Amino acid sequence: MSDIKPTQVFYHAGTVTREERQGLLKQTGATVWFTGLSGSGKSTLAVAVEQVLIQRGHAAYVLDGDNIRFGLNAGPKILADTRGYAEEQAKRFGLGFSAADREENIRRIGEVAKLFADAGLLALTSFISPYRKDRDAARKIHEQNKAGAIPFVEVHVNTPIECCEQRDPKGLYKQARDAVAAGKGMGFTGVDDPYEPPAKPELTFDASKHSVEEGVAQVLNYLQHRGLVRG
Ligand SMILES: Nc1ncnc2c1ncn2[C@@H]1O[C@H](COP(=O)(O)OP(=O)(O)OP(=O)(O)O)[C@@H](O)[C@H]1O
Ligand SMILES: [Mg+2]
Repeated sequence: MSDIKPTQVFYHAGTVTREERQGLLKQTGATVWFTGLSGSGKSTLAVAVEQVLIQRGHAAYVLDGDNIRFGLNAGPKILADTRGYAEEQAKRFGLGFSAADREENIRRIGEVAKLFADAGLLALTSFISPYRKDRDAARKIHEQNKAGAIPFVEVHVNTPIECCEQRDPKGLYKQARDAVAAGKGMGFTGVDDPYEPPAKPELTFDASKHSVEEGVAQVLNYLQHRGLVRG
């Protein structure tokens, strides 16, 4: 490749627009927000969608508990043990599982997904996100983005709790039931904390009735029909 001379460089004053970014890619940046009970199949579906998108030449990235709760939204103990935060600082910046911290967790995830989507990626988020107002707030920051609305696709993984509880791969339902039986409670969604289903999700998927492949096809078809993935 020959060197680029300064006389060959043209630039716009100001910032790069969403249209310019999208022109580069066969896709429009968007957030696909998977919500549902623990064990409903959110992560399974999100990583399968990511894999198929990447195979088809689309840039996608899953935000999940693993990469968020140990990084951006790490708890006080992780911040103290692995980052050397002093106790007071760790408490101030770390996120635990109180109602306020759960809300802040979802707020930050919404902001990060929005940035990824604004950069042109398909951001796939996989969190229980049980409260409607928190999910609606995430939707709102996308739709009211200053430089133009960013698509927000809410996927309700509405697998019945009986099925989630039977699969229970992390043993969390059992723990929660035992805690309730012992009169302690755990604040676990679906057991002793509410799950508020989306009023108008763009998609719903029941993993007790449909295979992962069917779910992937449903999400991909939706993205294609909305023109968010192309080619
Ligand atoms: N469509 C499906 N058909 C059959 N089994 C499935 C399907 N989707 C997911 N599963 C199984 O259900 C279990 C829960 O799935 P997964 O871990 O994806 O749930 P999750 O919603 O991400 O839960 P959590 O909120 O706890 O992270 C896993 O054992 C997974 O293999
Ligand atoms: Mg998961």
